[in-house]
Amino acid sequence: MIEVDRKAFLASLGVGALELMDPEEKAEALEHYMLDQMDEAERAAAAQKQTSGPRGAGPLLRASDTPLEPMPDKPTWLDFFNLRLAAKSHCLQSATHALKSGYPERTVMACLLHDGVQGLIRADHGWWGAQLYEPYVEERVTWGIRYHGALRFYADEEVGYEYPDLYVRIYGEDYVPPDYIREAYEHARDHPWYMEARLITVCDLYAFEEGVELTIDPFVEIIERNFKQPPEGLGYDNSPTAHMWRTIANPDKPL
Ligand SMILES: [Fe+2]
Ligand SMILES: [Fe+2]
Repeated sequence: MIEVDRKAFLASLGVGALELMDPEEKAEALEHYMLDQMDEAERAAAAQKQTSGPRGAGPLLRASDTPLEPMPDKPTWLDFFNLRLAAKSHCLQSATHALKSGYPERTVMACLLHDGVQGLIRADHGWWGAQLYEPYVEERVTWGIRYHGALRFYADEEVGYEYPDLYVRIYGEDYVPPDYIREAYEHARDHPWYMEARLITVCDLYAFEEGVELTIDPFVEIIERNFKQPPEGLGYDNSPTAHMWRTIANPDKPL
């Protein structure tokens, strides 16, 4: 697990930023900080992509002097994973834990997909990620992705999810998630699909290791079975979220 240096974390936010953030924003910032710490390439990229702009914007929506690598004409999810999406190491570690734990294939898929949308946008990323994937995977996968962001603030020790010590250390004992997070948690907790989201948070606990070398190879067949790749390429299939894929592919379009 990454050691979070509290001073370094606070410094990364900038002078005075913490006072301007509500508790949910602080918690999001901590997760982003950990993801950035974990991935050397991502860290270097983040340094180049400036720190200006809203904190909820992902690296693709921030100013950068580094041109993006071109995408193929008919891009697949794997192309997006390799060339655009964020938190690759984290998502691979999470999916590896799901695979080794014998969780259902849809949970492995959910773990693999759960944070990638942060390349585009970080604020409320559970909701954004779920929407992005809805036309392409079974509903329970996106249901889990949508609610994982809320569930991580609530323990479920029966399934091995404790409230992270880090949140206590960084935000103190008195952190109370905002109402919309609590309401999302309560909705998920009482839903028959609760475990679809809960297992993503469980796998998250094993997915912040530094220096772990993993590849996408063990997941390629799982992706083929669980992701409906459009033959026209993501972004060109006229799905309800095709525009989101096009923006991820080319975030520099002026309009
Ligand atoms: Fe997440
Ligand atoms: Fe995560």
